[in-house]
Amino acid sequence: MKAVQLADELGSFFVTIEGVEGAGKSTLARLLGEKLKHDGVQVVVTAEPGGDPVGEQIRQLLLNSSNTLTRKAELLLFEAARAQHVERVIKPALANGAVVICDRFTDSSLAYQGWGRGINISEVRMLNDYATGGLRPHLTILLDLPPERGLVRTRSTDRFSRECIEFHRAVREGYLSIAREEPERFLVVNADQPIEVVAAAALDAINSCRLGKESG
Ligand SMILES: Nc1ncnc2c1ncn2[C@@H]1O[C@H](COP(=O)(O)OP(=O)(O)O)[C@@H](O)[C@H]1O
Ligand SMILES: [Mg+2]
Repeated sequence: MKAVQLADELGSFFVTIEGVEGAGKSTLARLLGEKLKHDGVQVVVTAEPGGDPVGEQIRQLLLNSSNTLTRKAELLLFEAARAQHVERVIKPALANGAVVICDRFTDSSLAYQGWGRGINISEVRMLNDYATGGLRPHLTILLDLPPERGLVRTRSTDRFSRECIEFHRAVREGYLSIAREEPERFLVVNADQPIEVVAAAALDAINSCRLGKESG
């Protein structure tokens, strides 16, 4: 079964938000949740890694900067958290007819563990598919920003925020490359604009994509 088909069969609409540290993903997810709720849309806002009690514990392992993880262990922990998140949170919400907005998803593993850490991209893709059972977003909003701008914005001191600038540049390039490969799935937004401008562009894309899905 094709992955987008799987999301379609579950009913509703699945949006992911991606980008480097401090790009504005969590801010945008919250704003979109508020705006859609205001419009009477049933919406679930969630974030990776995490989303349920087990995922939150895996998140602590991954983000705690005193943990030294091998790159394979890091990838597998993200995938374990993702498998849990998909089964326990995302699929049930989609089956209920909700719009699900997820702060980070499979493209984060491609960009960070693939492009950033240097793990073979096809291996990351395979593990992504294994963890998600083939569930893919209808729409992915990539907040594009030079990483040095994002690192100034963020207050995070987690294991990833502490990586060198070259790592974050590779992550950004990775995201842009993935977006070029799948232009029909991605909306790339310049994140160096006021958050209201970013949110309006994202909301437009969600609404036209949802309409397109219903009529197509
Ligand atoms: N478009 C924007 N312009 C300026 N600052 C922003 C913008 N979007 C988010 N911020 C601010 O940048 C910081 C990081 O945002 P956040 O949403 O936590 O980023 P992320 O989740 O991508 O790491 C926060 O203080 C947030 O208020
Ligand atoms: Mg965030």
